Amino acid sequence: MTSLIEQAKQKAAYQAVDEHVLPSHRVIGVGSGSTVVHVVARLLQRDPELNAKTVFVPTSFQSRGLLLDGGLNVGDVDQYPDIDVTIDGADEVDSQLNAIKGGGGAHLQEKVVAEAAKKFVIVADYRKNSKILGEQWKQGVPIEVAPFAWRVVLVKIQNMGSKDAKLRMAVAKAGPVVTDNGNFLIDAPFGLIQDPANLLKDIKLITGVVEVGLFCNMAEIAYFGNEDGSVAIR
Ligand code: 5RP
Repeated sequence: MTSLIEQAKQKAAYQAVDEHVLPSHRVIGVGSGSTVVHVVARLLQRDPELNAKTVFVPTSFQSRGLLLDGGLNVGDVDQYPDIDVTIDGADEVDSQLNAIKGGGGAHLQEKVVAEAAKKFVIVADYRKNSKILGEQWKQGVPIEVAPFAWRVVLVKIQNMGSKDAKLRMAVAKAGPVVTDNGNFLIDAPFGLIQDPANLLKDIKLITGVVEVGLFCNMAEIAYFGNEDGSVAIR
């Protein structure tokens, strides 16, 4: 049986695809995570001929696999830097459409593919819909770091006020999580984030930081599937 959360993700994803992927579009960016699975399902369901005329730019190993499994054309962002629309999930979205991303550790590629698009659309379930970042997502801001620099960056992040910042470890503490780009991840809780753009700027200035999972002033619109089956649009 499909859970309410899964239904909510599906509703949001289907509506976003229906309203933002147009027949004229030739290059589509596809984000990462469990909500994006429904994006790809809807794309395939809506237009079985899609493959003949459209290229899809993935944002991770996971989304690349998803597209290939669907029999879709996959291209890299350096081949297709002009993307019509990118649709992606999020870990939390605030009332200004700023988002925390990187729960799956894919935010570097996700940000590049979102910035390469004319339009960036977020799809999520109701648990991600916040007024202020940090209200719901307690794991912290994901920060991708060069492996050799992780401890230096961690100390600086802790000194910035994120006392509980830590290196993301793989299951059973087998070692650090390694991103698709060969880097490590720090998760840095900052409580309620009143000024995400400023925090983003401050973290990015730390040498050794590759990318920060704060997406500020990037999304044009967000779709949140609700528990009652409705979809909230912001
Ligand atoms: C991965 C991401 C995902 O989009 C985010 O974690 C949301 O995932 P899900 O749709 O599974 O809730 O940013 O880096």
